[in-house]
Amino acid sequence: MLCCGRALDSPCTLAMLVGFQFAFVLYFSLGGFRGLVSVLVHSTEPEFDYSRPHDVYTNLSHLGALAPHHTGPAAPTGPTPQLKDCQVPSPLLVGPVLVRLSSPPSLDEIKEKNPLVTPGGHYTPPDCEPRHHTAIVVPYRNRQAHLRALLYHLHPFLQRQQIHYSIYIVHQLGNATFNRAKLLNVGVREALRDEDWSCIFLHDVDLLPENDHNTYTCHPQYPTHLSVAMDKFRYRLPYPQYFGGVSAVTPNQYLKMNGFPNQYWGWGGEDDDIAARIRLSGMKIVRPPVAIGHYKMIKHKGDQGNEQNPRRFDLLKRTRINWRSDGLNSLTYQLLSKELEPLYTNLSVNIGDDPHPSKNGQPPRKQTPPPVHHPDKSKAKAKLVAPTKPVKTDTAQRTKANETSAREEKAGTKQEVG
Ligand SMILES: *[C@@H]1O[C@H](CO)[C@@H](O)[C@H](O)[C@H]1NC(C)=O
Ligand SMILES: *[C@@H]1O[C@H](CO)[C@@H](O)[C@H](O)[C@H]1NC(C)=O
Ligand SMILES: *[C@@H]1O[C@H](CO)[C@@H](O)[C@H](O)[C@H]1NC(C)=O
Ligand SMILES: *[C@@H]1O[C@H](CO)[C@@H](O)[C@H](O)[C@H]1NC(C)=O
Repeated sequence: MLCCGRALDSPCTLAMLVGFQFAFVLYFSLGGFRGLVSVLVHSTEPEFDYSRPHDVYTNLSHLGALAPHHTGPAAPTGPTPQLKDCQVPSPLLVGPVLVRLSSPPSLDEIKEKNPLVTPGGHYTPPDCEPRHHTAIVVPYRNRQAHLRALLYHLHPFLQRQQIHYSIYIVHQLGNATFNRAKLLNVGVREALRDEDWSCIFLHDVDLLPENDHNTYTCHPQYPTHLSVAMDKFRYRLPYPQYFGGVSAVTPNQYLKMNGFPNQYWGWGGEDDDIAARIRLSGMKIVRPPVAIGHYKMIKHKGDQGNEQNPRRFDLLKRTRINWRSDGLNSLTYQLLSKELEPLYTNLSVNIGDDPHPSKNGQPPRKQTPPPVHHPDKSKAKAKLVAPTKPVKTDTAQRTKANETSAREEKAGTKQEVG
């Protein structure tokens, strides 16, 4: 208007009308507002077709063919050629893979399908220099079928990503209440005795990744949460601070947050404590896009020895006070054995027993050598009886989120205890 003066039929006005028309056509051809935003903001959210997954062993034969490299006719004798750095992203990736939840193959069959995996569940790419060195730590007890399913899926998945890795199972021996976070502490410490891992994965045994673009590597600065879209939570994050399932830290990040809590016996809360430690130590959580972080959870009934921990909400209120004194720097355990199995390293450990046994769970158990004896049982009981009052922090929000998800689950399928 400013440029053209008054005349309606001036060439400038005409040009403007044509311009508007053109803009409208462009707007709708891009799919209206959302399309326009995605073009302007340059959306990086990738898209995958999960309705057409690949077999989880796709492309592994390429590795098999590359393995006997040095015996090939081209390089007879002389100095062994320097390997090139592995490409990023790996050219072997296929995206969504088919996850089979039931009747996993036997350990022998899995071993046969993964000829390049060496004792201890160790692997390094045969044809390129890996950029990533990742230890996978899996807290474990009495879940043989889940373990086989995990090994069957994870080995080919990680080999396609061309990373150097080992899988550690931390087996809690004895009948004491399960303690996931403490087992993770043990796994991190023992794994770092073996090698100078640059990244440590904290992996539940019942979660299977569905997309190999979800690389098992660490962010240099911040802890990573990878299981952002689990089928159990309808492929959404259940609440913003959720850090359970599959997550990863570098040794430095781990030191900075004083590791994980040792006091969470039984199911629940320990992952929320870890998330709180991340914040309290000045870090934040990073995540892959939802379209990539897909996982399937193997359905199962609640396990014996891993009942819900009634003290978890009370413990969570004290993370702010406790995180510097409870964690890596207060960790005690007994390594009973370390066995290099064909597909994993078995660390079997005695981590002691819950000093506050739950009265609605199992009765306090007689057990393997307890680190400390509790002198005054009446005190422990009094603590248990104390009512749990709601608090107004984000602990309260989390509690609400957990209650909601518990209700949704009950309405849907059977309740799962993972
Ligand atoms: C890996 O598999 C995909 C899908 O089958 C295929 O397109 C791709 O070429 C394969 N990559 C290599 C290096 O063979
Ligand atoms: C654990 O419990 C089982 C079954 O109740 C029992 O047979 C076994 O001896 C217990 N083990 C230990 C170490 O207490
Ligand atoms: C809340 O629910 C999530 C998901 O099941 C679980 O990982 C977490 O430990 C729960 N937190 C508490 C305080 O129960
Ligand atoms: C790990 O080793 C312990 C001790 O030898 C054994 O009892 C347990 O069954 C092993 N666990 C796995 C998963 O191999």
